Amino acid sequence: MIYIKTDAEIKLMREATSVVRDYLHYIEEKIRPGISTYELDRLSYEFIKKCGAIPSCLGYEGYPATICASVDDVVVHGIPSKKIILEEGQIVGIDVCVGKNGFIGDAARTFAVGKISEAKQKLIDVTRECFFKGIGVVKAGVRLGDLSEAIQKHAESHGYSVVRELVGHGIGRSMHEDPSVPNFGVKGHGVKLKRNMTIAVEPMINMGKREVTLDDDDWTVRTLDGSPSAHYENTILIKDDGVEILTL
Ligand code: MF3
Ligand code: CO
Repeated sequence: MIYIKTDAEIKLMREATSVVRDYLHYIEEKIRPGISTYELDRLSYEFIKKCGAIPSCLGYEGYPATICASVDDVVVHGIPSKKIILEEGQIVGIDVCVGKNGFIGDAARTFAVGKISEAKQKLIDVTRECFFKGIGVVKAGVRLGDLSEAIQKHAESHGYSVVRELVGHGIGRSMHEDPSVPNFGVKGHGVKLKRNMTIAVEPMINMGKREVTLDDDDWTVRTLDGSPSAHYENTILIKDDGVEILTL
């Protein structure tokens, strides 16, 4: 069931998403060689608490941390750890969910750790572009498949592959609501988007093959071929004439 928000609910959602926005600026400054993903998680928890908000990932289906920190071949859901110390040349995806007023905002960015290769930078750039190509075709009345196809086409035109096992999602009072928002699909298919739907659009793009594997911790998702993967996500609001990106 898709929950279409009232204007009053959208107003409430803006507070959660604006904390996410501030958080992303905050954490970007903390990414550097030598910092552990555990330390990034600790800083994230403190920042969100200071904003009077709730770290919604913490405890979600037993998830043990505030953020997901996904290094290089980790696609998503990397669990922060004292043992994972960022090194120059790596890329790290930071994914966060913040609750306020009973509503949740969700976003992710992939950051460079120090100086990275041109190939990794291009992967980060194209993944971000995939998001914008996708939302570029969206407004009320458009079908979800239009967004999905636009994302997939852009990724594959660069020789990259789209992860199938994980998808974007509706978002609101719950982190994951209907509809599912795949990063692959066919134009003209899928549900029709309506004004005041709120969805998280989150391309997960691999430099190599699309297959992924799950670590023994039951969270960490990696590329099967060990190639780097990037993630870029925002919570967006569907409008009559387009979209508004609430977490940017
Ligand atoms: N933020 C993630 C998403 O985009 C959810 C992370 S799973 C969690 O759906 F367990 F960490 F919450
Ligand atoms: Co999400």
